[in-house]
Amino acid sequence: MTKVIVVTSGKGGVGKTTSSAAIGTGLAVKGHKTIIIDFDIGLRNLDLIMGCERRVVYDFVNVINGEATLNQAMIKDKRLEELYVLPASQTRDKDALTKEGVEKVINELGEKGFEYIICDSPAGIEAGAILALYFADEAIVTTNPEVSSVRDSDRILGMLASKSRRAEQGLEPVKEHLLLTRYCPARVHRGDMLSVEDVCEILAVPLLGVIPESQSVLKASNSGEPVIFDTESDAGQAYQDAVERLLGNSLELRFVNEQKKGFFSRIFGG
Ligand SMILES: Nc1ncnc2c1ncn2[C@@H]1O[C@H](COP(=O)(O)OP(=O)(O)O)[C@@H](O)[C@H]1O
Ligand SMILES: [Mg+2]
Repeated sequence: MTKVIVVTSGKGGVGKTTSSAAIGTGLAVKGHKTIIIDFDIGLRNLDLIMGCERRVVYDFVNVINGEATLNQAMIKDKRLEELYVLPASQTRDKDALTKEGVEKVINELGEKGFEYIICDSPAGIEAGAILALYFADEAIVTTNPEVSSVRDSDRILGMLASKSRRAEQGLEPVKEHLLLTRYCPARVHRGDMLSVEDVCEILAVPLLGVIPESQSVLKASNSGEPVIFDTESDAGQAYQDAVERLLGNSLELRFVNEQKKGFFSRIFGG
């Protein structure tokens, strides 16, 4: 059985691509045949974060237009046997993707035995984002702990419930997961950010994980290594937990409380 999972948010810059890369990689680490598809036409962030940007020859739009086969466009990960990326095109217009084209690609990936198809959505709630979520069985709603992001996530939840194929065909609804990213317990403590509890209460979606704001994310994206490989880092570990939960295992939340300050920072501030 193939599961199509969209990583979506409404708002841009909240961590969708970071999360698509980390979670897709985490599923492949667990032995699941996984492909991450970049729906963000024109931007091409995913291949940079995955570290395969130099190997892009054909892309998603080429496949949809019949200019390349899926086999020609899929990039196999260098590190993991079970992991593939389908890059977005950099130059074409944003309307290059069609529902029929996307459906054909998703069906073909199913025939190739992919267990997980991770759709990295563009920002917004217009055509591109709707197309990214249309075929989803599950949705990872990526949200930052701030009012504008929560509001946009709420809009996306509305779209999932009304504009997805599952909604159109009256099937079981898209299974929703909340992923709280760029979480900073100290700022929550100061009242500058919403808490996990606040966001959960407003959105009322089961929590998949809380990813702390972390330097390791930038380091990882600069080196083209999904942050989940950085097993020493808090963000890497938080993504590992999220993958476990996605696979049905229940784990306690980590990294949601303010770290006790050490002796020196208590004395000298910081
Ligand atoms: N947990 C995190 N800690 C620190 N920075 C993060 C974190 N998650 C994402 N970022 C940064 O936020 C920016 C936007 O992330 P990205 O994944 O591209 O978001 P989106 O795909 O939603 O636009 C990037 O610069 C990324 O490095
Ligand atoms: Mg992105």
